[in-house]
Amino acid sequence: MCGIVGYIGNREVQPILVDGLSKLEYRGYDSAGIAVLERERLDVRKAEGRLANLSEKLDKRPLKGTIGIGHTRWATHGGPSDANSHPHTDMSGKFSVVHNGIIENYMELKEELMGKGVVFRSETDTEVIAHLMADLYDGDLVRTVRALIGRIQGAFSIGVITEHEPDKLVAVRQASPLVIGAGQGENFIASDMAAVIEHTRDVYILEDGDLAVITAEEITIMKAETGAPAQRKKLRVHWDVEQVKKGQFEHFMLKEIHEQPLTLRNTMLGRLGRDDQVTFEGLELTDKYVQGIEKIFIVACGTAYHAGLVGKAAIEKLTRIPVETDIASEFRYRDPIVTDKTLVIVVSQSGETADTLAALQESQRRGAKVLAITNVATSSIARDADYVIPTVAGPEIAVASTKAYTAQLIAFYLLAIYFCQAKGTLDDQERRDLVRGLKELPLQVEKVLENADEVRCFAESIKDQKSLFFIGRGLDYAVALEGSLKLKEISYIHSEAYAAGELKHGSLALVEEGTPVIALVTHQELYEKTVSNIKEVKARGAHVMGVTGEGNMDLFNAVDEICFIPQASQLFAPILAVVPLQLISYYTSLALGNDIDKPRNLAKSVTVE
Ligand code: M6R
Repeated sequence: MCGIVGYIGNREVQPILVDGLSKLEYRGYDSAGIAVLERERLDVRKAEGRLANLSEKLDKRPLKGTIGIGHTRWATHGGPSDANSHPHTDMSGKFSVVHNGIIENYMELKEELMGKGVVFRSETDTEVIAHLMADLYDGDLVRTVRALIGRIQGAFSIGVITEHEPDKLVAVRQASPLVIGAGQGENFIASDMAAVIEHTRDVYILEDGDLAVITAEEITIMKAETGAPAQRKKLRVHWDVEQVKKGQFEHFMLKEIHEQPLTLRNTMLGRLGRDDQVTFEGLELTDKYVQGIEKIFIVACGTAYHAGLVGKAAIEKLTRIPVETDIASEFRYRDPIVTDKTLVIVVSQSGETADTLAALQESQRRGAKVLAITNVATSSIARDADYVIPTVAGPEIAVASTKAYTAQLIAFYLLAIYFCQAKGTLDDQERRDLVRGLKELPLQVEKVLENADEVRCFAESIKDQKSLFFIGRGLDYAVALEGSLKLKEISYIHSEAYAAGELKHGSLALVEEGTPVIALVTHQELYEKTVSNIKEVKARGAHVMGVTGEGNMDLFNAVDEICFIPQASQLFAPILAVVPLQLISYYTSLALGNDIDKPRNLAKSVTVE
């Protein structure tokens, strides 16, 4: 939620900030703005809407200078508008602030400041920071920011510059991500390293409570509360810059869908050792600990939660350890039964999702160990978890998650086998068969992608529909949930996923002549049952697209259109079945002319509760 970028050095700052914001736009894109210090004078430009609107303004009235901060916003307090855009300034215009997060006590502070004659120009919580800075300033920026931190409550990462001390940039992190890029004679701040890797590969990741004082030559990190120095390791980022570019693809989402054969291979790489044993480098889960697990919780949000549903099935089927899945925003408030014999698995692509992070902390507070499956090994969730299994999907830029989901499934399959090894519940032959099935998946996904055009016509045919159903049984239902979320998210067409047998208990009333239904039929044991449910919707006039394993030719008789996926074991079929659904969402949104990578109202990284 919201992206922050900042620069201090000798180069012209405007293009650096705008380029950085373009890499962070996935975090929020309701408005954008930059503030630049030129010859000790602060100047600000902001624009409602996409970054392109800001660029247009800057083309007409550029900002010159070598120090600046920028922001791309996902609106929380106050709608998208120029006035609510960051950076915010105090009344004198000498302090400029960018902020990601929420200041919980902003109303109280606002009243106090208004009592002192401060006039507010926006509806945001952030503006109080700018005015409070001016109110608290005592001739020392660092001391003032530290005093500010003592006054504000909530989650925030902040970047501040001031005309009073034009040789520095101060940044603070409290429960919202922030990194510092260390260059030669220049330094950067950003919400995500994607914004700095064009300029430097050396980064510091700030921890909660850190304050950084950044000049062109120096980076000093301390604890905001005490002022005591904080030692943070300089990390070298090995990402390929091309990974954060679209390349030959029109959209990041399409690129990421097509990357899946590679990302599945990468997530398995180095984890299938001798005799097809699963190993996780650096994972210190002892056999004794695994043998003592009485219950597992899988907790996540959105797509990661849907991956958890498949993870539950894999772990329960292979290990017989009971698994409960929970939505992270519900988990912590429902007094979950978590003990020291419970393993909590949190799943998060970004590793920064506020609800998931809070669930992690709540689980640890209750004595459980937490294992994180995340795509960002340096994220808050990865750092706080007791154990981490990184997915190796590379940076996922499109708001709609695709390759992270399938990589999460691979992580779950490997983990389930790993648990079996520790518990001794799988014989060698069964394990080898499973591993063989896993290794076939990347090639099988390639095959599904080769037939992408098959679903394109269907996608185009549903673009004007008002509503649509996804149905399936067992794991097909879990995939249906993911397909439905994907479609809603980027096409804005209403859709619902139903356990196929549940439809007749109420929602069947919504099916009428021409209602599109996507039926997933990959469960061989449940095949006949799902076909019966398809007949029920067909009898009410539905237009059905079936997704099924090659060989199920007789499904032709039950549906209007069909998409075949390679045959795989039931457990692994979700990886194959989800790909046509991802493509259907993509092509439907393309036909509608939507902004596919940045769907309305959403952001990639949800760092507010
Ligand atoms: O970064 P996370 O995996 O924790 O994000 C969780 C959800 O916000 C995310 O999966 C969301 O549902 C996706 N945009 C769906 O495509």
